[in-house]
Amino acid sequence: MPKPFHLGWFLQGSSAQAWGEPFTGTIGTDWMAPDLFCDMARHLERACFDYILIEDSSYVGESYGNLRELYLKHALAVPRQDPAITATLMAAATKRIGIVPTFATFTHPPYLLARMIASLDQISSGRIGWNMVTGSSDVAARNYGLPALPEHDVRYDMADEYMQAVNGLWDSWEPGALIADRASGVMIDHTKVHAVDFEGRWYKTHGPLNSGPCPQGRPVIAQAGGSNRGRQFASANADTIVAGVKGTAGMKAYRDDVRARAAAQGRDPDRVKVLFLVNPVIGHTQAEAEERLAQRRARAEAQIPQLLAFFGKITNIDFAQYDLDTPVNTLDLRTNGHQQSLDDFKRTAGSKSLRQAMLSYRGTSGSIELVGTPDAIAGQMAEAMEEVGGDGFLFSMTDVSRRTIAEVADGLVPALQARGLTRRAYAHAQFRDNCWNLEAGYPGRNNVQEHPQWPRVSS
Ligand SMILES: Cc1cc2nc3c(=O)[nH]c(=O)nc-3n(C[C@H](O)[C@H](O)[C@H](O)COP(=O)(O)O)c2cc1C
Repeated sequence: MPKPFHLGWFLQGSSAQAWGEPFTGTIGTDWMAPDLFCDMARHLERACFDYILIEDSSYVGESYGNLRELYLKHALAVPRQDPAITATLMAAATKRIGIVPTFATFTHPPYLLARMIASLDQISSGRIGWNMVTGSSDVAARNYGLPALPEHDVRYDMADEYMQAVNGLWDSWEPGALIADRASGVMIDHTKVHAVDFEGRWYKTHGPLNSGPCPQGRPVIAQAGGSNRGRQFASANADTIVAGVKGTAGMKAYRDDVRARAAAQGRDPDRVKVLFLVNPVIGHTQAEAEERLAQRRARAEAQIPQLLAFFGKITNIDFAQYDLDTPVNTLDLRTNGHQQSLDDFKRTAGSKSLRQAMLSYRGTSGSIELVGTPDAIAGQMAEAMEEVGGDGFLFSMTDVSRRTIAEVADGLVPALQARGLTRRAYAHAQFRDNCWNLEAGYPGRNNVQEHPQWPRVSS
């Protein structure tokens, strides 16, 4: 029997991300309304995904030519709404799927973050995660009154301390603190709610959290550390790690590495689920899928400046200064932003021209290339998981639309389910339980396993 695996969806910001892509005709006028994102959440819940991760950054790009022009003209990560708002609406539209908004440590003090996440966990009955990022851009830092971001590895040292502060706040309510006993008139057992009085090098907080506890105790933590320091952080703190590592050998090495690091830090590696980015091209036939892949490549070829601008946004590099025919290995490319993405780009580029390197980097924007009918792709995913050792995939579609979501939810996922590779129903009410476990599920409120810490208020 093949080993089943997990599925997540990477939504690149609650924004007009797919502007200009096929079958996204209404995005230009509809992006402000939550309908597309709520529909997406419902469809992916129908397909029993573990979670939707809502990517975020809080600045308008200006790396390319030191101008905002290209970013605004082509809607590159702008306009982009606050993920807390989208997460709230998605949670209200669903009952089981996990919702994982992204927040950066430099944009939210620990108390604000812990309270907001606890509130989201409450209104979703225990289905919230937090994609924990340390930021990558000095432009974003300036939006928050900081001159620049701290150095890459120092950001992770700060993040370690940040985690201590927010974990302290989430733990400030002991299980059983909420009594709601009408006979005695006591709502909260005050002996079970504690101050935190955390005082670190960078962060301080008093506590306890006035929002009350998270139904899950603590939220599910997602992280994408790719550098040596980032992996160390992710393996210490994350319940699910998302990664864009290329090729099954690299995927296996990455997963083995973070699992070993987790074990060395006293954690159960089976509770650190690693999901790899994929961007499948699905067709009724193999020929149709190949044709769609060719169309996708042609679109990418016509968008080299946009692709470089997007990559420049996360690496803070002005690619407009280079001739597109320059071999990448003659350029001195460094970043204080997404280090691993730049390392991957340089490694796969070698002596290719900037144009060609960007095209091939973007062309396989997933960890592995998946092209074919739903059943063929299901087979390719199974094979890759077999080689990698397990955990699952994070869908990251460049041309996200209701059409592509339906192709995954109604085409690919049934093919995966038919092979026994992904769940047919959720076994648990709360996100962490579904994120860690894949036992055969059964739908329906009466069968749902209750979490001991929290009375379920809705189903
Ligand atoms: C799938 C995935 C999702 C990510 N989402 C975000 C995000 O929403 N916001 C952000 O600032 N960084 C995001 N990142 C960047 C990571 O947090 C991290 O900085 C990056 O993977 C490089 O790793 P490093 O920081 O260890 O160098 C993401 C990375 C990956 C692979």
